[in-house]
Amino acid sequence: MNKNIFRKISYGVYIITTMDGERPTGCTANSVMQVTSSPATIAVSLNHNNFTNECIQKANKFAISILSETSDPFVIRMFGFRSGKDTNKFEGMAYEMRENLPVIKDACGYIVCEVIDKMETETHTVFLGQVIDGDVFDDATEAMTYAYYHRVIKGKSPKNAPTYLPDEGKK
Ligand SMILES: Cc1cc2nc3c(=O)[nH]c(=O)nc-3n(C[C@H](O)[C@H](O)[C@H](O)COP(=O)(O)O)c2cc1C
Repeated sequence: MNKNIFRKISYGVYIITTMDGERPTGCTANSVMQVTSSPATIAVSLNHNNFTNECIQKANKFAISILSETSDPFVIRMFGFRSGKDTNKFEGMAYEMRENLPVIKDACGYIVCEVIDKMETETHTVFLGQVIDGDVFDDATEAMTYAYYHRVIKGKSPKNAPTYLPDEGKK
């Protein structure tokens, strides 16, 4: 099998947030898709080792901040290469509370979901969320695609990303 075919699947870049009790936490994810429109549902795939996964299992809610091409790459790195287990990722980060969940302000906008189902794979949980709120912060800037993140920002993805390929970056 030629695993490079997986590079041809398109994604965006998102910050998935939830609460660890009273404390906001979250992680970067590309594996987000809208599953249905009415009622609107969204699926997100999170690694079992990600602290965000553990917190969503308890809070039963998550928010998705949809990053734009002008979102600061620092946000992606802070949420994507550190763990909320031992880091307060929201320190110095501009965010707002919506439906009691934190959403990143440096984004196109956000969606808030209640978990209505989940599927366990060997490594990841696929959470299915019903949308309970959402808004656009910035209509003028394009949403960041995963391709833009790699091509323009020259970003990498860690092993916990479902799309990780060991030889990432190599042709
Ligand atoms: C661009 C990018 C995309 C990512 N996509 C996912 C994803 O879809 N699912 C996932 O489980 N982890 C993904 N990750 C990895 C998590 O963000 C990373 O493991 C993070 O440190 C987990 O933090 P936590 O332990 O606080 O939850 C991605 C990381 C980056 C940088």
